[in-house]
Parts: sequence; structure tokens; C-alpha cells
Amino acid sequence: MRVLVIGSGGREHAIVDAVSRENDAQIYCAPGNAGIANQAELVDIKADDVSQLLRFVDDGRIDFTVVGPEVPLAAGIVDAFESRGKAVFGPKKLAARLETSKVFAKEFMKRWKIPTAEFRSFTIQQQSELIDYLKRSSYPLVLKADGLAAGKGVSIVESAKDAEGELERLFVKKVFGGAGERVVVEEFMTGLEASVFAITDGKDYVVLPPAQDHKRAGDNDTGKNTGGMGAFAPTPFVGEREMAAIRSEVIEKVIQGTAAEGYPFKGCLYCGMMLTPDGPKVVEFNVRFGDPETQAVLQLIDSSVLGLLEASANRSIGSYRLNLNGAASVCVIAASKGYPDYHENGKEITGLDVKRQNVKVLHSGSKLSDGKVVTSGGRVLGVTGIDTAGSVTKAAELAYKHLNHVRFDGMFYRHDIGRSAIENEAKKGNSH
Ligand code: AMP
Ligand code: GLY
Repeated sequence: MRVLVIGSGGREHAIVDAVSRENDAQIYCAPGNAGIANQAELVDIKADDVSQLLRFVDDGRIDFTVVGPEVPLAAGIVDAFESRGKAVFGPKKLAARLETSKVFAKEFMKRWKIPTAEFRSFTIQQQSELIDYLKRSSYPLVLKADGLAAGKGVSIVESAKDAEGELERLFVKKVFGGAGERVVVEEFMTGLEASVFAITDGKDYVVLPPAQDHKRAGDNDTGKNTGGMGAFAPTPFVGEREMAAIRSEVIEKVIQGTAAEGYPFKGCLYCGMMLTPDGPKVVEFNVRFGDPETQAVLQLIDSSVLGLLEASANRSIGSYRLNLNGAASVCVIAASKGYPDYHENGKEITGLDVKRQNVKVLHSGSKLSDGKVVTSGGRVLGVTGIDTAGSVTKAAELAYKHLNHVRFDGMFYRHDIGRSAIENEAKKGNSH
């Protein structure tokens, strides 16, 4: 079985790592990174170069393709591959709108009565109406650019003045280009967040253990929003009741709604949830695995991950049995100085030769240069600790212990990944 994984981040490294458990898998990754190169053959094609990727696959060298990031999905890579009879994991372009347009996603949720924050949407032409609306509103409010903005298109505003400043960035300075020409204004929700991945074939689905991301750059959720500075799984805060609600009120409605509207969703539906006092509500959908949640979640799966992805593509999820191994996992991202605003590249990474049982160093932004592994991104490594007995506390201890060995100039990481679960475990331990 020849498998192509598209992408170059930690999520793709985690997918390659999981697929490499299959004895008969020959793995390729386009374009990959220096860590992935140890487990797959790198193909020098960018993740968004759909026509080159198609040419590569058309040569008959690949049996199955897994698309990691959203950009090629938004560009219709799955439509292109499937029209050529190529097996591929991911949703088609029309279904990918659940991620690529916040306005589309909110209106979809409204049509299908999926719990989410109250909202209004406005175009750049409706600016004066929007300003009136902002003057009449109570705060805080959430402002979101409509299109893809690499996780940075959301701001929480405390007053009409703040909101107008943000509008200036979107409509006048156009910091997100066309992605900011429509905005969603949303009610501010409170609660813990959780990322829930449903793998579906358009009809049936399986839910992976819920994870929690840590989006802010600094400890205690301070600093700017990033792509994600760490994650752990499973999160104890999505209990049976919450999971039942997420299944029936969110996942099943998305499967039903997208099918009824003529663009059945298949692939990974990423439900970004807020556990509010009124029950779980959707913060956002993504149409692919999350990064860094995937680095944590895939460590918990005992059954074949490749088999799961294939079952989604060939519409046989109904007969896939998901087995979990009972572990807990914590992924801590080591990032480059200045991330998320700017970052330097080309810093040598040392300590990669140190191995520790139950720790995986999954690369997010690295490359080989003159025989050395150097940084090539804001997020560089995801040091992932795994506790086979299911303790987030122990998994975090392993990850942080290992972080003492890896180094690069300007490296920083958060010190509190998994804290909510660790505190929860301490409380439970004390009450026994
Ligand atoms: P998004 O890109 O939509 O996931 O938003 C990024 C982050 O902004 C989320 O993970 C939340 O922490 C926060 N956020 C987004 N929407 C809301 C909301 N309606 N209420 C409170 N926080 C939000
Ligand atoms: N961890 C957030 C995301 O993948 O969008």
C-alpha cells in the first residue's frame, strides 16, 4: 500500500507516524519536513500545488492520499482526485466551506439548528449598518473575518471603539485580504473549549477522544492567539452527557445537513466546542484534523489509523471498529522567538538524538540544511508525552522532562499545557 500524506506540519508528522505502524505501508509526504523524512520519503511538491500533486499520483505510484491542511481542500483537491478515480481522505470543496467561510458555517448551523453563538454577518458594503449595530450592542463581542486567516482572524472586542479599530484592520487595511471583506459579529461565550474529531464517510462516523488545544501564546492563556501551543487528550471535561449532545446536536446534524444540501461531508469534521453553562456550543468547524490536537489524539488509538482514513474515503466507516489503548497524551509545542507575529528560521535544532520511552518528538517546522536539522517555521516541534495508564499529569511530566534536551536559538514553550486536566486529576486523587 503506497500512501501519500500532504502537508508539512506536526499534524502530518503524527499521521505519518501512525500510518508507519502498518507493516505494508510505503509512505510518501509532500512536502514534509526533517522529522517526517525519518519515516517517509519526501516529495518536493507544495501542499497547495494541486496540479503537481495530481500528476505525481497519476503516475500510478500512490494508492491512497491523505490531505492534512485546509488550503488544498479549499482549492478542491478532493474533487480533482476523485474525478480521476483516486482514493483520497478529505471533504470536497463545497463541504470544505464549513471551514473556509465563517458566514457559510454560521448560516448552515442556523438552518440545521446546531447550537452556536448568536450572530449577525455583514459585508464590506454594509459597513455603516455594522457600525450602528456595534454602537447598540453590549460587550464583549467577537468579530471574525469570514475567510481563511490561519487561525488569526478572530478578535474579542470590549467596546464599540475597539470594534471599530478592528473593522479598520479588516475593511481598510485589509490585513486578511479578501478573507476579511465579510465579517461575523458573535455573542461572546464562556466555558472550557474542546476539540472533537468525527471521522465520517458521509453517512456513518466514529468520534475520536476529545482533546483540548491551548491557543494563546503565553502561560495562563495570555498573549496572542496562535495556531495552537499545545494539546492534550483525552479531556475529562467532555463527559458522556456532553459527548452525547455533541453527537446528536452537532455531528449528526452536519452529516444529515450536508447530505441533504447535496454536498455530503466526508473526512475529519473538527468540532471546536465551547462547553457553556447552557451545554456544548460550536465555536468553529474545521474540515481537517487539528494541529496540535492530532499529535495528542492519534497516540490514543489502538486500531488501524490508516484503516480508519481509508474507511472514510471508501465509505465503509459502518464496519470500522475503533479501539482505544487507554493512554493519555500531552503535546507541548516548542516555538520560535517572536511567534505568532514573526519568527526567524534556520536555527540549528540539537538534542534530537535523545530518545525517551513514551515520548515522540513530532516536527512542525524543520528542514535539513547542510546535513543539520534547522528551524523553518513559527511552530517547530511538538514534544509529545504518552502515559499508557491514562494520566495527563504523567504524560505532561514526560513531555516537559524531554523538553530539557531539545534546543534551538530563541526556543520558547508554554509551561502549563494540560493544567486543567492535571488539576482535575489532583482533585480526584485527593478525594479518594
Ligand atoms: P476560531 O478561529 O473561530 O476558533 O476562534 C479562535 C478562538 O477565539 C477560539 O478558540 C475561542 O477561544 C475564541 N472565540 C471564538 N469565538 C468565540 C465566541 N463566540 N465566544 C468566545 N470566544 C470565542
Ligand atoms: N488547533 C487549531 C486548529 O487546528 O485549527
